[in-house]
Amino acid sequence: MTSQEIREKFLKFFENKGHTIVPSSSLIPDDPSVLLTTAGMQQFAPYLSGQVKPPYKRACSIQKCFRTVDIDEVGDETHHTFFEMLGNWSFGDYFKKGAIDYALDFLISELKIPIEKLWFTVFKGENNIPKDEEAIDLWMKKGIPKEKIFEFGLKDNFWGPTGLTGPCGPCSEIHYERTEKPCSLGKKCGPNCDCGRFVEIWNLVFMEYHKNEKGEYETLPQKNIDTGIGFERLTAILQNKKSGYETDLFLPIMEEISGAKHSGAAPDLTGGSPRMLRIIADHIRGACFLIADGVLPSNIEQGYILRRILRRIIGQGKILNLGEGLPKGVLLPNLAKKVIGLYGDIYPELKKRQVDILTVIQKEEEKFGRALENGLREFGKISHKTISGQEAFNLFSTYGFPLELTKELAKEKGLKVDERGFQEELKKHQEISRAGLEKKFGGHGLGETRVFSKKDEEKIKKLHTATHLLHQALRDVLGEQVKQMGSDINPERLRFDFSYPEKMTLEQIKKVEELVNQKIKENLPVKMEEMDKGKALKSGALSFFKEKYGERIKVYSVGGYSKEICAGPHVERTKELGGFKIKKEQSSSAEIRRIKAVLE
Ligand code: SER
Repeated sequence: MTSQEIREKFLKFFENKGHTIVPSSSLIPDDPSVLLTTAGMQQFAPYLSGQVKPPYKRACSIQKCFRTVDIDEVGDETHHTFFEMLGNWSFGDYFKKGAIDYALDFLISELKIPIEKLWFTVFKGENNIPKDEEAIDLWMKKGIPKEKIFEFGLKDNFWGPTGLTGPCGPCSEIHYERTEKPCSLGKKCGPNCDCGRFVEIWNLVFMEYHKNEKGEYETLPQKNIDTGIGFERLTAILQNKKSGYETDLFLPIMEEISGAKHSGAAPDLTGGSPRMLRIIADHIRGACFLIADGVLPSNIEQGYILRRILRRIIGQGKILNLGEGLPKGVLLPNLAKKVIGLYGDIYPELKKRQVDILTVIQKEEEKFGRALENGLREFGKISHKTISGQEAFNLFSTYGFPLELTKELAKEKGLKVDERGFQEELKKHQEISRAGLEKKFGGHGLGETRVFSKKDEEKIKKLHTATHLLHQALRDVLGEQVKQMGSDINPERLRFDFSYPEKMTLEQIKKVEELVNQKIKENLPVKMEEMDKGKALKSGALSFFKEKYGERIKVYSVGGYSKEICAGPHVERTKELGGFKIKKEQSSSAEIRRIKAVLE
């Protein structure tokens, strides 16, 4: 069965059972307190918590997900950074019985997986939350023998909440027995055994609790179902392969990597290297999807994750001599093209942003490639057993080696890295730059303690509204990848930092300026609406800061042009602003631009 057939079968099956097919949401969640989408439930979180009334009672999706927690596992047979998750949801509709019936029916009747191959786990009860007798009973009613139902505690069989509070509940997992070979660890073996005999394929979460601020589990008035299947794992089973890398979800990418492997001087591919080829395949796929959703390499947040995975493959590609016979800088774009070719019809954003994807990758390769050789030379000089914090920090700050790359190189050479020492050096460095800033500002910090006159407050208010207009205008002119990275306003000027990889052209600057002035001329009304956080995020209001919003938040709209979550204050109509002028466009840090502008 091809992966495409599995996709279609899954969606059709649940559609026929009254589920609305919902497209995958972005890898960058609406919720600014979450870095990346790690599960199919992310886009439904406001419905699951009961904050927002869902437009449907049942939904299903195939969701793009990205998990960094598993990054050290990537390269084995079952873990990925980027992966797809098939899922079905009930919002206060069917509960445990429905979820169990549908799951078994789909696996056995639709996918023809023999029931003998399936094993199960349930919640054994812990922390005053009772054992899930109901789930055990339901599985047994389906003919599953008790010996194939294993019980685990909070760590394995309880899901959520994703934050400190929120909906959560016991879960029941379906595991697939990959081999009947006896346990290599020589113990009583079952799901979750480390021997690799079983792989978890489907997690059914019974969301019946709400964890409150006191850490107590309250029963939810509306019980929900949240399920997730790891698509790569399921495809591997149905295509009779050991891992997702051998399925049609990866083959052309793997072939391109092997081709590159053989085109150069024969590299030594012993030891951990075949695993490394899988890591390269995983990471290039993840990088393409991140860039398609607007992430650019940087040193913070999602941008740093992208940088880390790109630099890991660039570094490893060099060590393995990958693409040695190819012209410089061709290997990664070639691999990216394979990813776009494989997934571009299902996720059109990949095709739409093909040029960006290739450019970003190429630029990162150029940028890092130069430092890499010198860094590797530096690394080669280390002969002692443990790389000190200072040395690791030097590789990071001078040559751009993410700590993970240093760790990987060290592992290959049988060396250790003083990670704590590295973190200490990093902290020291950050403190030095802060001290520098304070010196520059005469010890006044960054203005937080300044007391402004009424007149100055008015100026600040105007510049604040102008900042919203500028943010939207930048997105209109440069594209949606523009994200606010910082903002600072004083009575004289506004300063706005945003993600964008290149210097803006004069023409672009002029266009942005004109657009803001046009919106000022239109004399748009500025409206504030207080609403629930969930509703605000669903309404598409821009919200790029990771600050913890309260449950009730303010959303400011400027006409129909801009909408942002913000504390205010703002002017009432845009004409009050006068003329808008960009004074400076410059680099703020890697991949981040800075604009200084005034109102005249
Ligand atoms: N949210 C659950 C998980 O991620 C089920 O999808 O496993």
